[in-house]
Amino acid sequence: MRTYLVTGGAGFIGSNYIHYMFRKYGGEIRIINVDALTYAGNLENLKEIEKRDNYTFIRADITDKDAITKIFAENDIDRVVHFAAESHVDRSIKDPEVFVRTNVLGTAVMLNCAKAAWELPDGSFQEGRKFLHVSTDEVYGSLEEDGGFFYETTPYAPHSPYSASKASSDMLVRSYMDTYRFPANITNCSNNYGPYQFPEKFIPLVINNALQGKSLPVYGDGKNVRDWLYVEDHAKAIDMVQEQGRLFETYNIGGHNEKQNIEIINIILETLQEQLADDDPRKKLVSRDLITYVEDRKGHDRRYAIAPDKIRAEIGWEPETMFRDGIRRTIQWYFEHEDWMRNATSGDYQKYYAEMYK
Ligand code: NAD
Ligand code: DAU
Repeated sequence: MRTYLVTGGAGFIGSNYIHYMFRKYGGEIRIINVDALTYAGNLENLKEIEKRDNYTFIRADITDKDAITKIFAENDIDRVVHFAAESHVDRSIKDPEVFVRTNVLGTAVMLNCAKAAWELPDGSFQEGRKFLHVSTDEVYGSLEEDGGFFYETTPYAPHSPYSASKASSDMLVRSYMDTYRFPANITNCSNNYGPYQFPEKFIPLVINNALQGKSLPVYGDGKNVRDWLYVEDHAKAIDMVQEQGRLFETYNIGGHNEKQNIEIINIILETLQEQLADDDPRKKLVSRDLITYVEDRKGHDRRYAIAPDKIRAEIGWEPETMFRDGIRRTIQWYFEHEDWMRNATSGDYQKYYAEMYK
């Protein structure tokens, strides 16, 4: 039975990936989820699978070398899928250091521990072992409004402390592949949306605020463009890269779905109106009047757009979920998980929100 060590599996994409993998492989695989449970980690995301015999949760910090070494020593790990990171750009602008610690140092620890566990005396690596580093399109910087795409060959030009820390982590992985022929892949993906996304991020924040009749903060002129991908499509791509990708290669993953932020808000408002029952009191609250233009994000990247040509040509992956369907499913999920949202937005979130949007 193949054993996966997933880092950051209690976060948004990591938990969706774990669900996807159990749906696909059932009892054929074993997953060990290592997560420090920061504000973004939530074990509620994994409630349905926590009792499985082939699933183990370990609370550990990826910068804790002793803890990670012990996990490799006690388990025969075949695959590492490395999601754990500080992931929110706005937080990185306020407090960059923790991004360097987790994203750069944490990745270095994961690489070192995997290398130590998998390396043979002749410097080669045990057959079948692989490390997949989950990264972002933000490492490529910002595109002009009127054209161009990010390719795997696009030079790195990160702007925020978050994207700079992710770019550094990618460089570390590349250095291990180049120096040691360490068996790895890197994936650089565009913006994800879907179930279990923490409401500091744009789409769940807009859904949550709209349902409460709270203002919908739009940074700058609202015309920044992101390329949105449904999270399950990302999970599938990660699995396909592990199964069919060529070692040492980078694959860009994207939704072919560019939208301005203001368009996203309008689609969410329309979809909420469609999906709320006529007698639901929240229906009256959901309105364009809530849209509020606020001060722009510092260093706000104008446009991201991935060209997923390589992953399509080599591996046969393509985005499957149309944005309208994905957003309907996402909104439906939030309707059915009001407790999840209530828990996620209690306590520290209130403090964060007041500080961030004051
Ligand atoms: P998230 O913030 O929702 O989850 C991050 C998880 O990592 C949390 O469970 C958190 O507890 C854990 N974590 C943080 N610091 C840790 C540490 N020091 N040790 C162990 N665990 C720690 O993030 P996400 O949106 O799910 O993103 C996951 C990965 O995907 C990140 O590497 C991110 O850069 C990348 N990515 C995200 C997107 C996106 O749109 N969200 C797009 C492309 C790539
Ligand atoms: O592109 C991939 C990246 O996408 C990931 O690497 C990051 O982890 C993920 O957080 C995301 O980064 P963004 O900064 O693009 O996502 P965010 O949801 O924070 O913002 C999306 C857009 O919406 C961006 O242009 C900023 C804008 N925005 C965001 C918030 C939170 C607003 O206008 N108002 C808001 O309140």
